Amino acid sequence: MGRKLIAGNWKMHGLGGSIAELDALISGLPGGVDVAVHPPLTLLAAFAARAGERIMIGAQDCDPGVFGARTGEVSATMLADAGARAVIVGHSERRAYHGETDVAVRTKAQAARAAGLLAIVCVGETEAERDAGAALAVIAGQLGGSLPQGEGPAFAVAYEPVWAIGSGRTPTLDQITQVHGAIRAQVGTGVRILYGGSVKAANAAAILRAPNVDGALVGGASLIARDFLPIVEAGAQAVR
Ligand code: PGA
Repeated sequence: MGRKLIAGNWKMHGLGGSIAELDALISGLPGGVDVAVHPPLTLLAAFAARAGERIMIGAQDCDPGVFGARTGEVSATMLADAGARAVIVGHSERRAYHGETDVAVRTKAQAARAAGLLAIVCVGETEAERDAGAALAVIAGQLGGSLPQGEGPAFAVAYEPVWAIGSGRTPTLDQITQVHGAIRAQVGTGVRILYGGSVKAANAAAILRAPNVDGALVGGASLIARDFLPIVEAGAQAVR
């Protein structure tokens, strides 16, 4: 596949002054790589206005509806209206803390596509599931249940082992290759498959060169441009 996509998931981090990090990121961007930043909703419109075409600004979740009596929720249509071009759906933190099921994730992914957003659909096993030898089966089940059906912009898949998120631990390259190969067999070509979970400057180059790794979804190391730019650069280098 072609260019890598390096996406930063800011989670619940960032205040108004954080736009300085976006500016630093923009000024250091190499060519030959696609970059996304998913700030908290409070910063989304300002980030989108500042980034223009250079960086794809995305959200971290969306409601499956369009408009309605859904206090506290924001729809994909509203995100697109605010300048978002992508949205992460089914992150394991939302699956765990907000009880999101595969069916819920699928409806969100479909709403995202209908609104013209790239849906980044997250899957990944827990440590107990991996220890039980069930990682591939769990991931296949999540993909089967949560991928969007029907028409719309292409979607992406992010493989994020739950035990690797924020832990500093990553799967071996063999394990990443095995899972990404299985996901590729299920979703076909034309869908970018990102790896996420403790990606940092020190491991990005190797991970991004593994077969069927089309990019990375980066949490903690995406908050500061100084940390994120070397990962973006590794994405640019991986296709050269
Ligand atoms: P991490 O988070 O890079 O901080 O491990 C990744 C994610 O949850 O998307």
